[in-house]
Amino acid sequence: MADNIHILAIESSCDETSAAVICDGRVLSNHIATQKVHERFGGVVPEMASRAHMQNIIPVVDIALKDSGVAKRQLSAVAFTQSPGLIGSLMVGTAFAKSFAQALQIPLIAVHHMQAHVLAHFIDAQPPFPFLCLTVSGGHTQIVLCRDYLDMEVIGETMDDAAGEAFDKVAKMLGLPYPGGPMVDKLAAQGDPLRFKFAAASMPGLNFSFSGVKTSVLYFLQAQKKADPDFIQNNLNDICASAQHTIIQMLMSKLQRAARELNIKHVGIAGGVSANSGLRTALKQAGETHGWTVYIPKFEYCTDNAAMIGITGYHKYLKGQFADLTASPSARASWT
Ligand code: KG4
Ligand code: ZN
Repeated sequence: MADNIHILAIESSCDETSAAVICDGRVLSNHIATQKVHERFGGVVPEMASRAHMQNIIPVVDIALKDSGVAKRQLSAVAFTQSPGLIGSLMVGTAFAKSFAQALQIPLIAVHHMQAHVLAHFIDAQPPFPFLCLTVSGGHTQIVLCRDYLDMEVIGETMDDAAGEAFDKVAKMLGLPYPGGPMVDKLAAQGDPLRFKFAAASMPGLNFSFSGVKTSVLYFLQAQKKADPDFIQNNLNDICASAQHTIIQMLMSKLQRAARELNIKHVGIAGGVSANSGLRTALKQAGETHGWTVYIPKFEYCTDNAAMIGITGYHKYLKGQFADLTASPSARASWT
């Protein structure tokens, strides 16, 4: 391993502006500014996200640098999220990273956000390869086979909505504030997961489909509300627990199938939905049943953060995978 490689990392793909400083793969600082402006709209408003990133980025980088105790002249490279995400949001981080790298005359490293969610596991642990990761966020649901830090293959993914989107849409139907996932998680802890049954679509192979769960919950609520207008208030915890249970079962059944077919015993979860307490418990239980070693990132490394961009940047630095100043952001780009 190389010594004294200091990476400044920037994440701005959605509604978190984050900066981190990483030294030889160790996180020295990781500062996240969550944009509150979207709450009253019940979802992320792209134009507002870009504006908030512009306001936040300089103070966030300043705090991350100060917290790390690393001076600008000690930096070896600047890593940034290039894709996927909201294009206006990505542009702010990309423009900032390019300017900073150019001003300091240091290399620039372009990072794929989904690869970074997987590599968040390597911040505090060292899962051996091959490693299997279920990456579940607001925009993606993927089963990723990792052969090495930068050698990954998406072997299963959603054909429509992401798991996080399913959580957020169910929450919206229940009148819960955005982002709904954490709220559903909290209420589900007090509810009965087996009380209500929702349709769980079965896709071929290792792929997923979550749009049916959302429709199933919607039709169920419409029917119940006809008989009892207060049905949601009176059964909120059980509805959350049952919907969460359905989503977790769908995720875990494909993850178990992938691990069995590939005979992999080191299995993790990543992305915003990996903060879900039901999914974390389900992974631990599956680990005991199948003799897996399981990996669950710390909460701050589950949802969007720059530390994961930094650890990915570090491995790209070691391989000499640099970007040039013509690098541009992309709302959608594949990475394996
Ligand atoms: O990875 P992430 O922070 O951003 C994206 O890259 O999309 O994931 C955000 C998603 C949202 O859909 C949010 O509701 C969900 O992660 N989420 C959760 C929990 N915490 C965040 N879903 C269920 N339970 C949670 N505790
Ligand atoms: Zn993410």
